[in-house]
Order: sequence, then C-alpha cells, then structure tokens
Amino acid sequence: MSHAEAPLPDPREPFEIPRHVAIIMDGNGRWAAARGLPRGEGHRRGVEALRKTVRAAGELGISILTIFSFSAENWSRPASEIRDLMGLLRRFIRNDLVELHKSGVRVRVIGERSDLDPEIRKLLEEAEELTWYNNGLMLVVAFNYGARQEIARAAARVAVEVAAKRIEPSAVTAELLAQHLDAPDLPDPDLIIRTSGEQRLSNFLLWQAAYSELVFVPTYWPDFDRAALESAIAEFRRRERRFGGLAVQAGT
Ligand code: IPE
Ligand code: IPE
Ligand code: MG
Repeated sequence: MSHAEAPLPDPREPFEIPRHVAIIMDGNGRWAAARGLPRGEGHRRGVEALRKTVRAAGELGISILTIFSFSAENWSRPASEIRDLMGLLRRFIRNDLVELHKSGVRVRVIGERSDLDPEIRKLLEEAEELTWYNNGLMLVVAFNYGARQEIARAAARVAVEVAAKRIEPSAVTAELLAQHLDAPDLPDPDLIIRTSGEQRLSNFLLWQAAYSELVFVPTYWPDFDRAALESAIAEFRRRERRFGGLAVQAGT
C-alpha cells in the first residue's frame, strides 16, 4: 500500500462527540489544601467527581473514557497517601462495581499489574470479568500506569516473538508495536483533558496521544462535573484535526 492510500482518519468526518476521551484527574491535593483539609479528603471528593463524570460521559454518548488514577511514579508519595489511594480504589470497586455493571459499563485496566497487592489485582480482574460482555461506556482505568513502561512492555512482547522467529525484525513497525500495547484493540484518544492547570502529560498515553487534542482546564479534579466535560468537548470541536494532512476547505 502506498502512503497516499494509507487509511488515515478522514478529517472531514463530523466530530460531534469525541469517541474516546482520556482524563488526567489532577488537583485533588490542591483542592483540599485550598480548604484547609487533608489531601485524603481531596482524593475522596475526587472519587465523587469520577462517579459524576462516568455518568455524564455515558449520557453524552462518549464510547470510551480512560482515566489516569494512579501513575507508576505516584509510588514516590508518602506511604500514608498511597494507603489512602489504594483504599479508595478498593472501596470504589467494591461499592460501585455493581452499579457500573447494571448501567452497562465495561471496565478495562491498563498499567503494570504484577507489582500490585494481590488483593487489588484480584479486584481489578473481577471488575473486568464481571463487565466483560457489557456494551455501554468502556471505562479504561489506568492504574500503576506509565506510558514509557507500557511501551517497554510492548517492546518486550515483540522481542519474545522475534526471538522465537515468529516475527522478522524488519516486520517491526509502529503498527505492530501498537498491537502489543496494554489495550491494543482501542482507538487512540481523540481528546485528552487535564485538570488543575498543569500543562503536561506526566507519562500518560505518550504513544496513543500522537494526534490527540489536548485540553487543559484550571478546575481542580474534585470540582469537575458534566458542565466542565461539555465545555472541554466544545473546545475540542473548535479544533481542526489534520493528522499531518492539509486543512479541509469548506465545500471540498
Ligand atoms: C490527582 O491529584 C490524584 C493522583 C495523582 C492520584 P493530586 O494528588 O496529584 O493533587 P495535586 O496535584 O497534588 O493537587
Ligand atoms: C498525574 O498527576 C497522575 C494522575 C493524575 C494519576 P501527578 O500529580 O502525579 O503529576 P505531576 O507529578 O504533577 O506531573
Ligand atoms: Mg497532581
């Protein structure tokens, strides 16, 4: 296939609602500090914002919502904060899984699982198994996730295939590597939102973000809600996606 024939997304397709939205849920600690509360309280309120956002995403017709819940680098925080965050994940799965399942949400998890507490690993697997055949919103939870680590895992999986002579080194393309990422069946995010005013990716979806639209909002995550999601989508709609091609003129 020549480059001209490569199946790139057609930029003339109307993007009413982005199909895949990813969110870096940041600012829980600052939300709490601004109110003289402990950081853990910010994380607890962050879970409430997550519940609202999952509901809103489903109602708005988003197909896939990826959330950054705990990064591979977040282990460098104090032990007490890590305990808080792990406790919240446990409670979120225990309390919300049945409700998510009832509303047709399908849960997927990306990130490194082998170094997680076995109990947490089991809960994550349970969430995926219970909701596997649902066909509503797909909720992708990035937990113990780092994009460089994910790309290295993909490279290691490819290396196994090459060593076993099932793949020629010359057959290692970007497409092939993408097929070995943690959730290879999912399309790249159309829109990545980061709350709290920070303007960086912090090792989130570096590979998949190649052509994502990035929207940075000043809101701290616990204050994020349906209106904030809608306004980020409105900003996304104002963007012109070109995927390296030329802008499409009206009427062409
Ligand atoms: C996001 O809020 C939650 C996680 C990273 C787990 P933070 O805890 O990073 O809050 P800030 O950025 O310190 O305000
Ligand atoms: C990114 O936020 C990770 C999550 C939201 C889970 P951080 O708060 O960890 O990122 P930095 O340290 O400000 O870059
Ligand atoms: Mg932060």
